Parts: sequence; structure tokens; C-alpha cells
Amino acid sequence: MIDEKLYIVMMGLPARGKSTLASRLRDAFRRDDIPTRIFNNGNLRRMYRSLKETSLSEFYHPENDAAVEARKRFAKINMKMAKSYLRNSGQVAILDATNASRERRSLIEKFLTDYPILFIECVNDDEEILGLNIMEKTKLPEFSHLDRQKAKTEFVKRINYYRLVYAPLAVERNYVRLDSLHNKILEEKHSDTIGLYPRIRDYLVTDVVKNLFLIRHTETNYNIANRIGGNPLLTDKGITQAQSLGRFFHKLSLPYIFTSSKKRTMQTAQLIASGQKDCTIIPIKEFDEIDAGICEGMTYKSIEEKMPQIFHGREADKYHYVYPNGESYETMKLRIEVGIKKAFHLNRHSGNIMIIGHQAVNRMILSHFLYRREEDVPYIYIPQDRFYHIVSIQYKKLFEMKRYD
Ligand code: F6P
Repeated sequence: MIDEKLYIVMMGLPARGKSTLASRLRDAFRRDDIPTRIFNNGNLRRMYRSLKETSLSEFYHPENDAAVEARKRFAKINMKMAKSYLRNSGQVAILDATNASRERRSLIEKFLTDYPILFIECVNDDEEILGLNIMEKTKLPEFSHLDRQKAKTEFVKRINYYRLVYAPLAVERNYVRLDSLHNKILEEKHSDTIGLYPRIRDYLVTDVVKNLFLIRHTETNYNIANRIGGNPLLTDKGITQAQSLGRFFHKLSLPYIFTSSKKRTMQTAQLIASGQKDCTIIPIKEFDEIDAGICEGMTYKSIEEKMPQIFHGREADKYHYVYPNGESYETMKLRIEVGIKKAFHLNRHSGNIMIIGHQAVNRMILSHFLYRREEDVPYIYIPQDRFYHIVSIQYKKLFEMKRYD
């Protein structure tokens, strides 16, 4: 048992995943019996100032002297509390705030001199994820008196004000710069011996175990007619299948079910969600089925008869063949990856994730997690009476195909 004490100071622009990471670290330390507490400046700010004031960007303007002073005061209160926590029973104190400027960090270094400090910078410039994070932030009580658009504008302006004073970690004695989307360490520096560091490093790069349940929508009218694409509804058999799925997953807690924007996936999801306590269905357009362009709604047989060049062109190289005015497996790849990223991000607080997709989409999702040769991807078996269960841990994926009835 390592009995050293440590300050961890989070750093990064707003909406980069600092607080999520701080909670993950705290939970991991506590699981290892290391008393840990988070000291969050935002919580103090929201407690002691009016939300009308702190939700507006002007409060973060670097030249708003009164607000700069107020924010500094909250930082000092938290530092004092963190210090007394470590002086008593605490072992790790996590200071959660942007701490974006060098000036603020030197204040911290001057104040917290009793134990080593490890700075952790969260870096994430992925536009899609940033957009989702901002959307989530604007739903918080802090912004409840503003309409969504205004809340978004104010939050983006707040980020830009922080950008003006932002200086990446460099001169600090001990730090880690982390790509907080992929849990990847970008840079690290240690001047002090920190016995807890190897453990922290493990926590940082280890993904939460994820159980991905990858399901194809159940039977539709188009499936029986052998038609492709379109936006059909489930058949009676499809409804019964979806109800069986609902019963199968009844005991598992699913905070979200991700679908495409097509009726058949959302209908399947609704029947599964009705067996859940608290489950939100989120349609993600990137999970829409391959666009068959001018062949949408046709049967394979009529494509062969009326457009043999398309039928045979696809047969010759199914992965790369692009339907006229439509897509190929290859051209779908990018959007599917964006969809996976969005779904995993929104679902980041839970170990279970369910995606209800389509035949081609599920092939692409499966091959994202389990390597398949390109030419094999369009032939992966995606039945409607079974689903794939993929266990995803960093650098390790396990999978099984299961019946649900
Ligand atoms: O037939 C169902 C379906 O989802 C169609 O909408 C889609 O065009 C097709 O499967 C994709 O599978 P394949 O690439 O084997 O034609």
C-alpha cells in the first residue's frame, strides 16, 4: 500500500472531459482503498454566485477584473479545503477546474507546497464530440433560464475567453497531457517521484469495459419482399421478434439505445425500451443503411434483370462498388466511425451500449471492432434472430453471436 499523498490538478478548456475524468480517477482510487476527493471550482461558483451571472460569458472575460478576482477566490477556497483534506485522512485531492493560464497554475504551485502536484491536461479538439459536449452542457441547470441557442452561444464564447489565456502544460514539474477522447497519453513529465503514478497511468489509459450489443432491426415488409433500402415498418413477426429482444434485455440496464433515423430501427428500439426503467432512444443519422442510390426499393432480382451492369459490378467488388447516386461499403466507413464515436461518447457513463442498425451498417460496425479483410466485410453474417455481443476493453475485444428467443 502506497501511503504518499498527492494533489492532482486538472487542466484544459471547458467541455474537454475534465470532470468526467476526475470522477473516473476518484472512483478508481476509491476502489483501490485510496481516500480521494474532488474539489470543483465550478460547484463553488454555482453555489455562491447567481446563475444569471455565471452562465453568461462575460463572467469569464479575462479583463473582467471583478469576475477574475471572484474566480481566483473560489480557487483559493478549494485549495485550502484540499490542503486540509490531505492533512487529515485524505490521500489524493483532485482539483477540478480549467486552470488554463500559467498564472493560475503558478498560484497553485505557490500555495500547495506540502505534497507533490501532478497536472493532468485534457486535450480533445474533435469537433463532433465538442458539439455534443456543448449540447450536454447547455442542458444543465446553470443554463435553464436561457434558451438553448443563447446558452450555446454563451458557452462557446466562454470557451473562447479561456482560449485567450490558455497555455499548455510545459514548465510544470509533473504532468500528463492526455487525449481525453481516446484515453491516449500525448506527453508526460516527472520531476518528482510519484509512487502512485504507474497506477494513475493505468487508470488514464484503461477504458471502462463496454458491452456492446449490436442488433439488426427485426423483420420488415421489405425483407420479406427482398427489397432493399427504403423506410419500411416491421411486420407482425418483426414486432414479435422485437418484443422477445425486449424480454431478453429486460434485466440489463440500458440508459440509451442508439438507432439509425429509419423507422424499422426506431420501432425495434421502442419495443426493447418499453422493458427498461429509464432508457432514451437516440437516432444517429450516420447509422442509416447503405444508400443504394437509383436501386433503392428494388429487389436484387429486378436489379439483375434491369440493371445488370450494377448487379455484376457489385458482385465483382462489393466492398468498393458505389451504387449510382448512392454509396459503397468503403464510402460508408467514415460516417459509421463518426456514429460509433458519437454513441460511445454519449454512453460514456455506462458499461452497456446497444446499437440497432442495418445489415450493411452492422457489418461495418462489427469490422470496426474486430478486424476483417475488406473483401470479407460485405459478407459478414447479420441475422435478424440473433445479435452480436462485443466486449470491448482497450487493446482487447471479445465477441459472441447469441440467440435471443
Ligand atoms: O436487404 C436489407 C438491406 O439492409 C438493404 O437495405 C441493403 O441495401 C442491404 O441489406 C445491404 O446488404 P448487401 O450489401 O448484402 O446488399
